[in-house]
Amino acid sequence: MNSIIIYYSYQNNTRKLANYIKEALNCQILELLPVVPYSDNYDDVVALGENEETKNVRPELQTNIPNLDSYDTVILCTPTWWYNIAPVMISFLEKYPLTNKDIYVLATNGGFGLGKGKECLEELCGKESIHSVLEVPFDEDEMEISMDVVNAWIESIKK
Ligand SMILES: Cc1cc2nc3c(=O)[nH]c(=O)nc-3n(C[C@H](O)[C@H](O)[C@H](O)COP(=O)(O)O)c2cc1C
Repeated sequence: MNSIIIYYSYQNNTRKLANYIKEALNCQILELLPVVPYSDNYDDVVALGENEETKNVRPELQTNIPNLDSYDTVILCTPTWWYNIAPVMISFLEKYPLTNKDIYVLATNGGFGLGKGKECLEELCGKESIHSVLEVPFDEDEMEISMDVVNAWIESIKK
């Protein structure tokens, strides 16, 4: 199994989990960064996020994406933004379709769930490519599920 974690994180929750999974799986990791960084002001980003969602904005990526042919397993880690995966992740998946790969998704959220995110992932990656989607609720930076759940999910990727 040759795996890579591809993640976006605005405030660190997803970043911490992505790095934890990297240690557990001992695999490559790649951070997606937009060309235009989001403001440090959370409320501004939430307001902008709504705008991006309603207008289908796709932020341009500054991350140099390597050739992904050699990876058979891709672990996507993203926050939930406006009841969907983050626009940065959508930009990536639209440009680099991951069909024919084994895909696992970890989506953090602020307690409202991933909403239409699963549907969006299935559309972009192909339903049969997505093995599982783990939703991880947070209260600010406090994870609200047990680490045992995350560990069990990581074990399921190894199988
Ligand atoms: C622009 C924006 C939109 C968000 N929209 C949602 C949402 O629709 N549902 C939800 O449960 N949480 C939402 N959140 C909260 C984040 O999903 C949550 O805090 C997540 O863990 C942040 O991950 P990060 O620290 O890796 O950026 C939103 C946060 C931001 C900044």
